Amino acid sequence: MGLQLGDEAPDFTAMTTEGMITFHEWLGEGWGVLFSHPKDYTPVCTTELGYMAKLSDEFTKRNCRVLAMSVDPLESHRGWIKDINETQHTTVNYPVIADPNRTVANLYGMIHPNADDTMTVRSVFIVGPDKKVKLMITYPASTGRNFDEILRVLDSLQLTADFQVATPVNWQRGEDCIIVPAVPDEEVPAKFPKGSTTIKPYLRYTPQPDRQDKQLVS
Ligand code: BEZ
Repeated sequence: MGLQLGDEAPDFTAMTTEGMITFHEWLGEGWGVLFSHPKDYTPVCTTELGYMAKLSDEFTKRNCRVLAMSVDPLESHRGWIKDINETQHTTVNYPVIADPNRTVANLYGMIHPNADDTMTVRSVFIVGPDKKVKLMITYPASTGRNFDEILRVLDSLQLTADFQVATPVNWQRGEDCIIVPAVPDEEVPAKFPKGSTTIKPYLRYTPQPDRQDKQLVS
């Protein structure tokens, strides 16, 4: 059985463009995004790593560290990052793991032999402060990912870790949330002081709760 949501994210020590990293220690008490790309010096990957560099401040604001990887060696990453910076008008400001022995790729099931038996697929993992896997997505080599979506999911994960809400389709930060069915109607006014709207007994909305009225999820 491969890695699943809720499993502990496998720990590893790996060489990166910013030195050796031991994953769990490097994450500290915060969140993390680990994402693989198929191959250095390829066009779609170039756009992806460049875009992630432009977004990385947003991840930092959310106490989330970003870590890229592929099975290419360190010298390849170093040369390619110069190209990314030049062509994408940015500075790659997060580490990229060099995993030529496929240690991390195998731990995270990033090589899908029926798609390609040497390159990693486009995997994304979000890891919570408890080191558990909160999100896994897999894209084929031919399709660049939407990193705004990863940020959107992180917003949802962080909100729903703090409040008894879930986020509806296409939700964006600041929009109304759904009160989880486990909250009895009689507890709604106290738990959601901004108010609520009941469409069906199982479909209740509330404005996005704020950190200052933080409630414990229970
Ligand atoms: C790319 O990043 O452009 C790419 C990588 C591997 C296979 C196909 C495309």
